[in-house]
Amino acid sequence: MSNRIRHPGFAALRLSAAEAAQRIRHGMTVGMSGFTGAGYPKAIPGALAEHITARHAQGEPFRITVLTGASTAPELDGVLARVDGIELRVPFQSDPELRGRINSGALEYMDIHLGQLAEKVRYGFFGKVDVAVIEISAILEDGRLVPSSSVGNNKTWLDMADAVILEVNRWQPEALEGMHDIYYDGALPPARQPIPLVHPGDRIGEPYLSVPLEKVVAVVETDAPDRNSPFKQPDAASKAIADHLLDFLRFEVKAGRIPGNLLPIQSGVGNIANAFMQGLGESEFTGLTAFTEVIQDGMLELLISGKLALAAATSFSLSPVGIERFNEHAEFLRKRIVLRQQGISNHPELIRRLGCIALNGMLEADIYGNVNSTHTLGTQMMNGIGGSGDFARNAYLSVFMAPSVAKNGLISTLVPMVSHVDHTEHDVSVIVTDQGLADLRMLSPKQRAKAILERCVHPSYRDALGDYIERANRDSFGKHTPHLLAEALSWHERYRLTGSMLNPEAVG
Ligand code: COA
Repeated sequence: MSNRIRHPGFAALRLSAAEAAQRIRHGMTVGMSGFTGAGYPKAIPGALAEHITARHAQGEPFRITVLTGASTAPELDGVLARVDGIELRVPFQSDPELRGRINSGALEYMDIHLGQLAEKVRYGFFGKVDVAVIEISAILEDGRLVPSSSVGNNKTWLDMADAVILEVNRWQPEALEGMHDIYYDGALPPARQPIPLVHPGDRIGEPYLSVPLEKVVAVVETDAPDRNSPFKQPDAASKAIADHLLDFLRFEVKAGRIPGNLLPIQSGVGNIANAFMQGLGESEFTGLTAFTEVIQDGMLELLISGKLALAAATSFSLSPVGIERFNEHAEFLRKRIVLRQQGISNHPELIRRLGCIALNGMLEADIYGNVNSTHTLGTQMMNGIGGSGDFARNAYLSVFMAPSVAKNGLISTLVPMVSHVDHTEHDVSVIVTDQGLADLRMLSPKQRAKAILERCVHPSYRDALGDYIERANRDSFGKHTPHLLAEALSWHERYRLTGSMLNPEAVG
Protein backbone atom coordinates (compact mmCIF):
# COMPACT_ATOMS: atom_id res chain seq x y z
CA MET A 1 0.00 0.00 0.00
CA SER A 2 1.32 3.49 -0.84
CA ASN A 3 2.36 5.54 2.21
CA ARG A 4 -0.11 8.20 1.06
CA ILE A 5 -3.05 5.74 0.93
CA ARG A 6 -3.04 4.06 4.32
CA HIS A 7 -6.58 2.65 4.39
CA PRO A 8 -6.98 -0.75 2.72
CA GLY A 9 -10.54 -0.07 1.57
CA PHE A 10 -9.47 3.06 -0.34
CA ALA A 11 -6.28 1.39 -1.59
CA ALA A 12 -8.40 -1.36 -3.16
CA LEU A 13 -10.13 1.28 -5.31
CA ARG A 14 -6.97 2.37 -7.13
CA LEU A 15 -7.52 2.86 -10.85
CA SER A 16 -5.72 4.60 -13.69
CA ALA A 17 -6.93 8.09 -14.58
CA ALA A 18 -8.23 6.77 -17.91
CA GLU A 19 -10.32 4.09 -16.16
CA ALA A 20 -11.61 6.51 -13.53
CA ALA A 21 -12.56 9.16 -16.12
CA GLN A 22 -14.99 6.65 -17.71
CA ARG A 23 -17.26 7.23 -14.70
CA ILE A 24 -18.05 10.70 -16.01
CA ARG A 25 -20.71 10.84 -18.71
CA HIS A 26 -22.25 13.41 -21.04
CA GLY A 27 -24.57 15.88 -19.31
CA MET A 28 -23.22 15.30 -15.81
CA THR A 29 -22.47 17.99 -13.25
CA VAL A 30 -18.98 17.45 -11.90
CA GLY A 31 -17.68 19.20 -8.78
CA MET A 32 -13.92 19.46 -8.99
CA SER A 33 -11.38 20.65 -6.45
CA GLY A 34 -9.11 23.57 -7.22
CA PHE A 35 -8.78 27.15 -6.18
CA THR A 36 -6.42 29.19 -8.38
CA GLY A 37 -3.58 26.93 -9.51
CA ALA A 38 -3.67 24.99 -6.24
CA GLY A 39 -5.24 21.67 -5.29
CA TYR A 40 -6.95 20.97 -8.61
CA PRO A 41 -7.07 17.38 -9.95
CA LYS A 42 -4.04 16.86 -12.18
CA ALA A 43 -4.86 13.58 -13.99
CA ILE A 44 -8.63 13.09 -14.41
CA PRO A 45 -9.38 16.22 -16.49
CA GLY A 46 -6.73 15.27 -19.08
CA ALA A 47 -7.96 11.67 -19.22
CA LEU A 48 -11.53 12.93 -19.47
CA ALA A 49 -10.55 15.25 -22.34
CA GLU A 50 -9.20 12.24 -24.26
CA HIS A 51 -12.38 10.31 -23.51
CA ILE A 52 -14.50 13.27 -24.71
CA THR A 53 -12.44 13.56 -27.91
CA ALA A 54 -13.01 9.86 -28.63
CA ARG A 55 -16.77 10.22 -28.08
CA HIS A 56 -16.92 13.31 -30.28
CA ALA A 57 -15.05 11.40 -33.00
CA GLN A 58 -17.89 8.84 -32.85
CA GLY A 59 -20.35 11.68 -33.45
CA GLU A 60 -21.66 11.55 -29.86
CA PRO A 61 -22.34 14.67 -27.78
CA PHE A 62 -20.23 14.99 -24.64
CA ARG A 63 -20.25 18.16 -22.55
CA ILE A 64 -20.41 18.57 -18.80
CA THR A 65 -21.06 21.24 -16.20
CA VAL A 66 -17.88 21.96 -14.25
CA LEU A 67 -18.10 23.40 -10.74
CA THR A 68 -14.88 24.19 -8.87
CA GLY A 69 -13.65 26.37 -6.04
CA ALA A 70 -12.30 29.09 -8.31
CA SER A 71 -9.92 29.24 -11.27
CA THR A 72 -7.73 26.19 -11.83
CA ALA A 73 -4.97 25.62 -14.38
CA PRO A 74 -4.48 24.62 -18.02
CA GLU A 75 -4.54 20.93 -16.97
CA LEU A 76 -8.20 21.32 -15.99
CA ASP A 77 -9.91 24.34 -17.54
CA GLY A 78 -7.57 24.49 -20.54
CA VAL A 79 -7.82 20.85 -21.61
CA LEU A 80 -11.57 20.57 -21.15
CA ALA A 81 -12.24 23.85 -22.97
CA ARG A 82 -9.95 22.85 -25.85
CA VAL A 83 -11.92 19.65 -26.57
CA ASP A 84 -15.24 21.50 -26.31
CA GLY A 85 -16.14 19.41 -23.27
CA ILE A 86 -17.69 22.15 -21.12
CA GLU A 87 -21.36 23.12 -21.35
CA LEU A 88 -21.40 25.38 -18.27
CA ARG A 89 -18.50 26.56 -16.09
CA VAL A 90 -19.04 27.95 -12.58
CA PRO A 91 -17.52 30.03 -10.79
CA PHE A 92 -14.17 31.98 -11.22
CA GLN A 93 -11.75 31.19 -14.07
CA SER A 94 -8.58 32.68 -15.50
CA ASP A 95 -7.38 30.22 -18.13
CA PRO A 96 -6.73 31.93 -21.50
CA GLU A 97 -8.18 29.04 -23.53
CA LEU A 98 -11.35 28.90 -21.44
CA ARG A 99 -11.66 32.69 -21.35
CA GLY A 100 -11.39 32.83 -25.15
CA ARG A 101 -14.23 30.34 -25.53
CA ILE A 102 -16.40 32.12 -22.97
CA ASN A 103 -15.92 35.37 -24.86
CA SER A 104 -16.60 33.81 -28.25
CA GLY A 105 -19.87 32.41 -26.89
CA ALA A 106 -18.78 28.77 -27.34
CA LEU A 107 -19.75 27.81 -23.78
CA GLU A 108 -21.73 29.19 -20.88
CA TYR A 109 -20.07 30.72 -17.86
CA MET A 110 -21.81 31.75 -14.66
CA ASP A 111 -20.02 34.12 -12.30
CA ILE A 112 -21.13 33.94 -8.67
CA HIS A 113 -19.67 35.21 -5.38
CA LEU A 114 -17.21 32.52 -4.32
CA GLY A 115 -18.53 32.46 -0.78
CA GLN A 116 -22.01 31.61 -2.02
CA LEU A 117 -21.60 28.74 -4.48
CA ALA A 118 -21.44 25.85 -1.99
CA GLU A 119 -24.52 26.95 -0.10
CA LYS A 120 -26.51 27.57 -3.27
CA VAL A 121 -25.62 24.06 -4.43
CA ARG A 122 -26.75 22.79 -1.03
CA TYR A 123 -30.03 24.67 -1.43
CA GLY A 124 -30.56 22.66 -4.62
CA PHE A 125 -30.38 25.65 -6.97
CA PHE A 126 -27.86 23.89 -9.25
CA GLY A 127 -29.53 20.48 -9.28
CA LYS A 128 -27.63 17.30 -8.52
CA VAL A 129 -23.84 16.93 -8.32
CA ASP A 130 -23.18 13.65 -10.12
CA VAL A 131 -19.47 13.20 -9.53
CA ALA A 132 -16.86 14.87 -7.30
CA VAL A 133 -13.22 14.81 -8.42
CA ILE A 134 -11.11 15.94 -5.50
CA GLU A 135 -7.37 16.21 -5.02
CA ILE A 136 -6.14 15.34 -1.53
CA SER A 137 -2.66 14.82 -0.18
CA ALA A 138 -3.20 11.57 1.77
CA ILE A 139 -5.73 9.07 3.12
CA LEU A 140 -5.15 8.13 6.76
CA GLU A 141 -5.41 4.64 8.28
CA ASP A 142 -8.94 5.41 9.50
CA GLY A 143 -10.07 6.74 6.11
CA ARG A 144 -9.98 10.46 6.86
CA LEU A 145 -8.70 12.60 4.00
CA VAL A 146 -5.83 15.08 4.33
CA PRO A 147 -6.79 18.04 2.12
CA SER A 148 -4.27 19.48 -0.31
CA SER A 149 -3.15 23.05 -1.04
CA SER A 150 -6.69 24.41 -1.36
CA VAL A 151 -9.95 23.58 0.39
CA GLY A 152 -12.38 25.53 -1.79
CA ASN A 153 -15.74 23.77 -2.10
CA ASN A 154 -14.33 20.25 -1.60
CA LYS A 155 -16.35 19.48 1.49
CA THR A 156 -19.61 20.31 -0.29
CA TRP A 157 -18.70 18.37 -3.46
CA LEU A 158 -17.81 15.33 -1.31
CA ASP A 159 -21.06 15.65 0.66
CA MET A 160 -23.33 16.26 -2.32
CA ALA A 161 -21.95 14.05 -5.09
CA ASP A 162 -23.42 10.66 -5.92
CA ALA A 163 -19.95 9.30 -6.74
CA VAL A 164 -16.46 10.43 -5.73
CA ILE A 165 -13.09 10.12 -7.47
CA LEU A 166 -10.10 10.95 -5.28
CA GLU A 167 -6.72 12.00 -6.64
CA VAL A 168 -3.99 11.46 -4.06
CA ASN A 169 -1.10 13.72 -5.02
CA ARG A 170 2.21 12.75 -3.44
CA TRP A 171 3.77 16.00 -4.68
CA GLN A 172 1.78 17.94 -2.06
CA PRO A 173 3.93 18.63 1.04
CA GLU A 174 3.25 16.37 4.04
CA ALA A 175 3.48 19.54 6.13
CA LEU A 176 -0.04 20.40 4.96
CA GLU A 177 -1.49 17.91 7.46
CA GLY A 178 -3.03 19.77 10.37
CA MET A 179 -3.20 23.12 8.58
CA HIS A 180 -6.85 22.84 7.53
CA ASP A 181 -9.98 23.59 9.50
CA ILE A 182 -13.10 22.03 7.97
CA TYR A 183 -16.30 23.19 9.61
CA TYR A 184 -19.07 20.60 9.73
CA ASP A 185 -22.17 22.68 10.34
CA GLY A 186 -24.80 20.81 8.33
CA ALA A 187 -27.80 23.02 9.06
CA LEU A 188 -29.64 24.94 6.39
CA PRO A 189 -32.01 27.91 6.94
CA PRO A 190 -34.06 28.30 9.05
CA ALA A 191 -32.07 26.04 11.40
CA ARG A 192 -28.71 27.73 11.04
CA GLN A 193 -26.71 28.77 14.09
CA PRO A 194 -24.06 31.53 14.38
CA ILE A 195 -20.61 30.44 13.18
CA PRO A 196 -18.48 30.22 16.34
CA LEU A 197 -15.46 32.14 15.05
CA VAL A 198 -14.37 35.39 16.70
CA HIS A 199 -10.65 35.56 15.86
CA PRO A 200 -9.16 34.92 12.40
CA GLY A 201 -7.12 31.97 13.70
CA ASP A 202 -9.90 30.20 15.63
CA ARG A 203 -10.24 26.53 14.79
CA ILE A 204 -13.90 25.59 14.68
CA GLY A 205 -13.75 22.29 12.80
CA GLU A 206 -11.47 19.37 11.98
CA PRO A 207 -8.21 19.21 10.02
CA TYR A 208 -9.60 16.49 7.72
CA LEU A 209 -12.23 15.92 5.08
CA SER A 210 -14.30 12.77 5.14
CA VAL A 211 -16.35 10.74 2.70
CA PRO A 212 -18.17 7.42 3.07
CA LEU A 213 -16.10 4.69 1.40
CA GLU A 214 -19.24 3.43 -0.40
CA LYS A 215 -19.41 6.65 -2.44
CA VAL A 216 -15.83 6.42 -3.68
CA VAL A 217 -15.60 4.85 -7.13
CA ALA A 218 -11.89 5.39 -7.82
CA VAL A 219 -8.65 6.47 -6.18
CA VAL A 220 -6.01 7.76 -8.60
CA GLU A 221 -2.41 8.40 -7.58
CA THR A 222 -0.58 11.44 -8.98
CA ASP A 223 2.72 13.19 -8.48
CA ALA A 224 2.30 16.55 -10.16
CA PRO A 225 2.94 20.15 -9.11
CA ASP A 226 0.44 22.91 -8.55
CA ARG A 227 0.73 25.57 -11.20
CA ASN A 228 0.40 29.33 -10.80
CA SER A 229 2.00 31.94 -13.02
CA PRO A 230 4.81 34.00 -11.52
CA PHE A 231 3.78 37.45 -10.28
CA LYS A 232 5.02 40.56 -12.09
CA GLN A 233 7.71 42.46 -10.20
CA PRO A 234 6.04 45.55 -8.69
CA ASP A 235 6.40 48.46 -11.12
CA ALA A 236 6.37 52.16 -10.33
CA ALA A 237 2.55 52.31 -10.44
CA SER A 238 2.07 49.42 -7.98
CA LYS A 239 4.65 50.90 -5.64
CA ALA A 240 2.89 54.27 -5.76
CA ILE A 241 -0.46 52.55 -5.02
CA ALA A 242 1.10 50.76 -2.05
CA ASP A 243 2.57 54.02 -0.72
CA HIS A 244 -0.75 55.90 -0.95
CA LEU A 245 -2.55 53.07 0.79
CA LEU A 246 0.03 52.79 3.56
CA ASP A 247 -0.24 56.54 4.21
CA PHE A 248 -4.01 56.19 4.39
CA LEU A 249 -3.78 53.32 6.89
CA ARG A 250 -1.36 55.35 9.03
CA PHE A 251 -3.87 58.21 8.97
CA GLU A 252 -6.68 55.90 10.04
CA VAL A 253 -4.59 54.49 12.90
CA LYS A 254 -3.72 58.03 14.03
CA ALA A 255 -7.38 58.99 13.92
CA GLY A 256 -8.13 56.02 16.20
CA ARG A 257 -10.40 54.33 13.69
CA ILE A 258 -8.27 51.19 13.36
CA PRO A 259 -5.74 49.63 15.77
CA GLY A 260 -1.96 49.94 15.29
CA ASN A 261 -1.66 46.38 14.01
CA LEU A 262 -4.61 47.08 11.68
CA LEU A 263 -7.67 44.84 11.39
CA PRO A 264 -7.63 41.44 9.63
CA ILE A 265 -6.54 42.01 6.06
CA GLN A 266 -8.14 40.51 2.98
CA SER A 267 -5.90 40.80 -0.03
CA GLY A 268 -7.34 40.03 -3.45
CA VAL A 269 -5.87 38.22 -6.41
CA GLY A 270 -3.53 39.72 -8.99
CA ASN A 271 -0.31 41.62 -9.30
CA ILE A 272 -1.39 44.84 -7.61
CA ALA A 273 -2.66 43.05 -4.49
CA ASN A 274 0.57 41.06 -4.38
CA ALA A 275 2.62 44.25 -4.75
CA PHE A 276 0.76 45.88 -1.85
CA MET A 277 1.69 42.94 0.37
CA GLN A 278 5.33 43.58 -0.51
CA GLY A 279 4.86 47.26 0.40
CA LEU A 280 3.33 46.27 3.72
CA GLY A 281 6.39 44.10 4.35
CA GLU A 282 8.65 47.13 4.02
CA SER A 283 6.46 49.27 6.29
CA GLU A 284 6.49 49.68 10.08
CA PHE A 285 3.22 47.72 10.50
CA THR A 286 3.60 44.51 12.44
CA GLY A 287 1.56 42.01 14.46
CA LEU A 288 -0.82 41.82 11.48
CA THR A 289 -3.45 39.17 10.79
CA ALA A 290 -5.16 38.12 7.57
CA PHE A 291 -8.66 36.73 7.06
CA THR A 292 -8.63 36.29 3.34
CA GLU A 293 -9.27 34.06 0.38
CA VAL A 294 -5.84 33.27 -1.06
CA ILE A 295 -2.28 33.38 0.21
CA GLN A 296 -0.16 34.75 -2.63
CA ASP A 297 3.65 35.13 -2.56
CA GLY A 298 3.55 38.61 -0.97
CA MET A 299 1.48 37.40 1.98
CA LEU A 300 3.70 34.32 2.41
CA GLU A 301 6.75 36.58 2.74
CA LEU A 302 4.92 38.65 5.38
CA LEU A 303 4.31 35.44 7.33
CA ILE A 304 7.93 34.31 6.98
CA SER A 305 9.20 37.72 8.14
CA GLY A 306 6.96 37.52 11.21
CA LYS A 307 5.14 40.78 10.38
CA LEU A 308 2.00 38.80 9.72
CA ALA A 309 1.26 36.70 12.78
CA LEU A 310 -1.42 34.57 11.17
CA ALA A 311 -3.24 34.04 7.88
CA ALA A 312 -6.57 32.26 7.42
CA ALA A 313 -7.56 31.57 3.82
CA THR A 314 -9.08 28.88 1.63
CA SER A 315 -6.10 28.35 -0.66
CA PHE A 316 -2.53 29.02 -1.52
CA SER A 317 -1.89 30.79 -4.79
CA LEU A 318 1.87 30.59 -4.93
CA SER A 319 4.21 31.01 -7.87
CA PRO A 320 6.93 28.35 -8.32
CA VAL A 321 9.26 30.54 -6.21
CA GLY A 322 6.53 30.91 -3.55
CA ILE A 323 6.13 27.12 -3.42
CA GLU A 324 9.87 26.75 -2.78
CA ARG A 325 9.68 29.35 -0.03
CA PHE A 326 6.74 27.51 1.55
CA ASN A 327 8.65 24.23 1.51
CA GLU A 328 11.73 25.85 3.07
CA HIS A 329 9.63 27.23 5.96
CA ALA A 330 6.88 24.61 6.10
CA GLU A 331 7.20 23.81 9.82
CA PHE A 332 7.21 27.49 10.83
CA LEU A 333 4.24 28.25 8.56
CA ARG A 334 2.15 25.30 9.73
CA LYS A 335 1.40 27.05 13.02
CA ARG A 336 0.55 30.33 11.33
CA ILE A 337 -1.80 29.28 8.51
CA VAL A 338 -5.38 27.98 8.66
CA LEU A 339 -7.04 26.80 5.43
CA ARG A 340 -10.86 26.75 5.53
CA GLN A 341 -13.63 25.96 3.06
CA GLN A 342 -14.47 29.02 0.96
CA GLY A 343 -17.97 29.25 2.41
CA ILE A 344 -16.26 30.11 5.71
CA SER A 345 -13.20 32.08 4.51
CA ASN A 346 -15.58 34.36 2.57
CA HIS A 347 -18.56 34.33 4.92
CA PRO A 348 -20.27 37.74 5.27
CA GLU A 349 -21.08 37.12 8.94
CA LEU A 350 -17.40 36.59 9.75
CA ILE A 351 -16.06 39.36 7.51
CA ARG A 352 -18.39 41.86 9.18
CA ARG A 353 -17.72 40.57 12.72
CA LEU A 354 -13.93 40.59 12.32
CA GLY A 355 -13.95 43.99 10.60
CA CYS A 356 -11.79 43.03 7.64
CA ILE A 357 -9.88 45.58 5.60
CA ALA A 358 -10.68 44.41 2.06
CA LEU A 359 -8.08 45.22 -0.59
CA ASN A 360 -9.06 44.24 -4.11
CA GLY A 361 -7.92 44.95 -7.65
CA MET A 362 -10.30 46.41 -10.22
CA LEU A 363 -10.39 47.01 -13.96
CA GLU A 364 -12.13 50.38 -13.76
CA ALA A 365 -14.16 52.67 -11.53
CA ASP A 366 -16.45 55.50 -12.44
CA ILE A 367 -16.74 59.01 -11.11
CA TYR A 368 -19.30 57.90 -8.51
CA GLY A 369 -17.27 54.97 -7.19
CA ASN A 370 -18.98 52.08 -8.95
CA VAL A 371 -16.40 49.39 -9.69
CA ASN A 372 -15.98 46.94 -12.56
CA SER A 373 -13.72 44.01 -11.64
CA THR A 374 -14.69 41.60 -14.38
CA HIS A 375 -15.60 42.89 -17.83
CA THR A 376 -13.43 44.66 -20.38
CA LEU A 377 -15.50 47.03 -22.52
CA GLY A 378 -18.56 45.83 -20.67
CA THR A 379 -18.88 42.65 -22.67
CA GLN A 380 -15.76 40.51 -22.37
CA MET A 381 -15.12 38.43 -19.27
CA MET A 382 -11.70 38.76 -17.67
CA ASN A 383 -11.74 36.34 -14.70
CA GLY A 384 -14.82 36.75 -12.57
CA ILE A 385 -15.94 38.50 -9.41
CA GLY A 386 -14.19 35.95 -7.20
CA GLY A 387 -14.57 36.76 -3.55
CA SER A 388 -14.25 40.50 -4.01
CA GLY A 389 -18.00 41.00 -3.52
CA ASP A 390 -18.12 38.76 -0.43
CA PHE A 391 -15.50 40.99 1.16
CA ALA A 392 -16.26 44.43 -0.28
CA ARG A 393 -19.86 44.58 0.86
CA ASN A 394 -19.15 43.37 4.36
CA ALA A 395 -15.73 44.82 5.14
CA TYR A 396 -14.88 47.47 7.73
CA LEU A 397 -13.08 49.29 4.92
CA SER A 398 -13.42 48.33 1.29
CA VAL A 399 -10.54 49.47 -0.91
CA PHE A 400 -10.22 49.05 -4.69
CA MET A 401 -6.91 49.55 -6.47
CA ALA A 402 -5.70 49.88 -10.06
CA PRO A 403 -3.09 51.78 -12.03
CA SER A 404 -4.71 55.00 -13.35
CA VAL A 405 -4.16 53.82 -16.93
CA ALA A 406 -3.96 50.42 -18.64
CA LYS A 407 -2.53 49.28 -21.99
CA ASN A 408 0.26 51.86 -22.04
CA GLY A 409 -2.07 54.75 -21.38
CA LEU A 410 -4.64 53.90 -24.06
CA ILE A 411 -7.24 53.10 -21.39
CA SER A 412 -8.19 55.26 -18.41
CA THR A 413 -9.25 53.11 -15.47
CA LEU A 414 -11.36 56.04 -14.23
CA VAL A 415 -14.25 56.61 -16.61
CA PRO A 416 -17.51 58.58 -16.66
CA MET A 417 -19.59 55.41 -16.20
CA VAL A 418 -18.32 51.85 -15.71
CA SER A 419 -19.19 49.53 -18.56
CA HIS A 420 -20.21 46.78 -16.09
CA VAL A 421 -20.91 46.99 -12.35
CA ASP A 422 -19.63 44.43 -9.86
CA HIS A 423 -19.40 46.64 -6.77
CA THR A 424 -21.79 49.51 -6.42
CA GLU A 425 -20.94 52.92 -5.01
CA HIS A 426 -22.47 51.72 -1.72
CA ASP A 427 -19.77 49.07 -1.22
CA VAL A 428 -16.67 51.08 -2.04
CA SER A 429 -14.95 53.11 0.69
CA VAL A 430 -11.68 53.99 -1.00
CA ILE A 431 -10.25 54.08 -4.53
CA VAL A 432 -6.49 54.13 -5.01
CA THR A 433 -4.41 54.56 -8.15
CA ASP A 434 -0.78 55.48 -8.68
CA GLN A 435 -1.94 59.11 -8.80
CA GLY A 436 -3.45 59.15 -5.33
CA LEU A 437 -6.24 57.96 -3.04
CA ALA A 438 -9.86 59.08 -2.87
CA ASP A 439 -11.58 58.47 0.46
CA LEU A 440 -15.24 58.20 -0.55
CA ARG A 441 -16.71 57.66 2.90
CA MET A 442 -19.40 60.16 3.80
CA LEU A 443 -19.32 61.78 0.37
CA SER A 444 -22.36 62.42 -1.81
CA PRO A 445 -22.14 61.39 -5.50
CA LYS A 446 -21.04 64.86 -6.69
CA GLN A 447 -18.45 65.06 -3.90
CA ARG A 448 -17.17 61.61 -4.87
CA ALA A 449 -16.76 62.67 -8.50
CA LYS A 450 -14.69 65.67 -7.38
CA ALA A 451 -12.48 63.56 -5.07
CA ILE A 452 -11.85 60.90 -7.74
CA LEU A 453 -11.07 63.52 -10.40
CA GLU A 454 -8.67 65.42 -8.16
CA ARG A 455 -6.87 62.43 -6.70
CA CYS A 456 -7.00 59.34 -8.90
CA VAL A 457 -7.15 60.25 -12.58
CA HIS A 458 -4.08 60.16 -14.83
CA PRO A 459 -3.06 63.64 -16.07
CA SER A 460 -3.70 62.69 -19.71
CA TYR A 461 -7.40 62.08 -18.92
CA ARG A 462 -7.95 64.71 -16.23
CA ASP A 463 -9.19 67.51 -18.49
CA ALA A 464 -11.54 65.25 -20.41
CA LEU A 465 -13.05 63.76 -17.25
CA GLY A 466 -13.28 67.20 -15.61
CA ASP A 467 -15.05 68.47 -18.70
CA TYR A 468 -17.51 65.56 -18.60
CA ILE A 469 -18.28 66.15 -14.92
CA GLU A 470 -18.79 69.87 -15.48
CA ARG A 471 -21.13 69.38 -18.43
CA ALA A 472 -23.00 66.59 -16.63
CA ASN A 473 -23.51 68.84 -13.60
CA ARG A 474 -24.88 71.49 -15.93
CA ASP A 475 -26.92 69.50 -18.43
CA SER A 476 -27.96 66.28 -16.70
CA PHE A 477 -31.71 65.73 -16.38
CA GLY A 478 -31.34 64.68 -12.74
CA LYS A 479 -28.87 66.55 -10.57
CA HIS A 480 -28.27 63.98 -7.81
CA THR A 481 -25.99 61.69 -9.83
CA PRO A 482 -25.42 63.75 -12.95
CA HIS A 483 -24.74 61.95 -16.23
CA LEU A 484 -24.91 62.63 -19.95
CA LEU A 485 -26.49 59.32 -20.86
CA ALA A 486 -25.65 59.43 -24.56
CA GLU A 487 -22.00 60.12 -23.76
CA ALA A 488 -21.42 58.15 -20.55
CA LEU A 489 -19.98 55.07 -22.31
CA SER A 490 -18.38 56.95 -25.20
CA TRP A 491 -14.86 56.43 -23.82
CA HIS A 492 -15.29 52.66 -24.14
CA GLU A 493 -16.78 52.96 -27.60
CA ARG A 494 -13.90 55.20 -28.67
CA TYR A 495 -11.40 52.59 -27.44
CA ARG A 496 -13.24 49.87 -29.33
CA LEU A 497 -13.27 51.90 -32.54
CA THR A 498 -9.86 53.60 -32.39
CA GLY A 499 -7.79 51.56 -29.93
CA SER A 500 -7.54 54.50 -27.52
CA MET A 501 -9.80 56.23 -25.01
CA LEU A 502 -7.96 59.48 -25.64
CA ASN A 503 -10.08 61.86 -27.61
CA PRO A 504 -7.88 63.07 -30.52
CA GLU A 505 -9.76 66.36 -30.66
CA ALA A 506 -9.25 66.99 -26.96
CA VAL A 507 -5.58 65.99 -27.23
CA GLY A 508 -5.29 68.41 -30.11
N1 COA B 1 -9.83 47.70 -19.51
C1 COA B 1 -9.24 46.70 -20.21
N2 COA B 1 -8.17 45.99 -19.75
C2 COA B 1 -7.69 46.34 -18.53
C3 COA B 1 -8.23 47.38 -17.78
C4 COA B 1 -9.35 48.07 -18.29
N3 COA B 1 -9.93 49.05 -17.62
N4 COA B 1 -7.53 47.47 -16.62
C5 COA B 1 -6.58 46.52 -16.66
N5 COA B 1 -6.66 45.84 -17.81
C6 COA B 1 -5.84 44.70 -18.22
C7 COA B 1 -4.36 44.98 -18.04
O1 COA B 1 -3.83 45.67 -19.16
C8 COA B 1 -3.80 43.58 -17.91
O2 COA B 1 -3.76 42.97 -19.18
P1 COA B 1 -2.35 42.46 -19.77
O3 COA B 1 -1.89 41.43 -18.78
O4 COA B 1 -2.75 41.91 -21.10
O5 COA B 1 -1.50 43.68 -19.82
C9 COA B 1 -4.90 42.84 -17.13
O6 COA B 1 -6.09 43.63 -17.32
C10 COA B 1 -4.60 42.69 -15.63
O7 COA B 1 -4.27 43.94 -15.14
P2 COA B 1 -3.21 44.16 -13.96
O8 COA B 1 -3.02 45.64 -13.86
O9 COA B 1 -1.99 43.30 -14.11
O10 COA B 1 -4.07 43.77 -12.71
P3 COA B 1 -4.13 42.56 -11.69
O11 COA B 1 -3.27 41.40 -12.02
O12 COA B 1 -3.91 43.21 -10.39
O13 COA B 1 -5.66 42.07 -11.85
C11 COA B 1 -8.05 42.17 -11.90
C12 COA B 1 -6.73 42.96 -11.80
C13 COA B 1 -9.20 43.14 -11.72
C14 COA B 1 -8.14 41.46 -13.24
C15 COA B 1 -8.04 41.12 -10.74
O14 COA B 1 -7.87 41.78 -9.52
C16 COA B 1 -9.33 40.32 -10.70
O15 COA B 1 -9.50 39.36 -11.43
N6 COA B 1 -10.28 40.75 -9.83
C17 COA B 1 -11.58 40.12 -9.68
C18 COA B 1 -11.59 39.03 -8.67
C19 COA B 1 -11.14 39.47 -7.31
O16 COA B 1 -11.11 40.64 -6.99
N7 COA B 1 -10.78 38.52 -6.50
C20 COA B 1 -10.29 38.75 -5.17
C21 COA B 1 -11.21 38.24 -4.16
S1 COA B 1 -10.48 37.62 -2.75
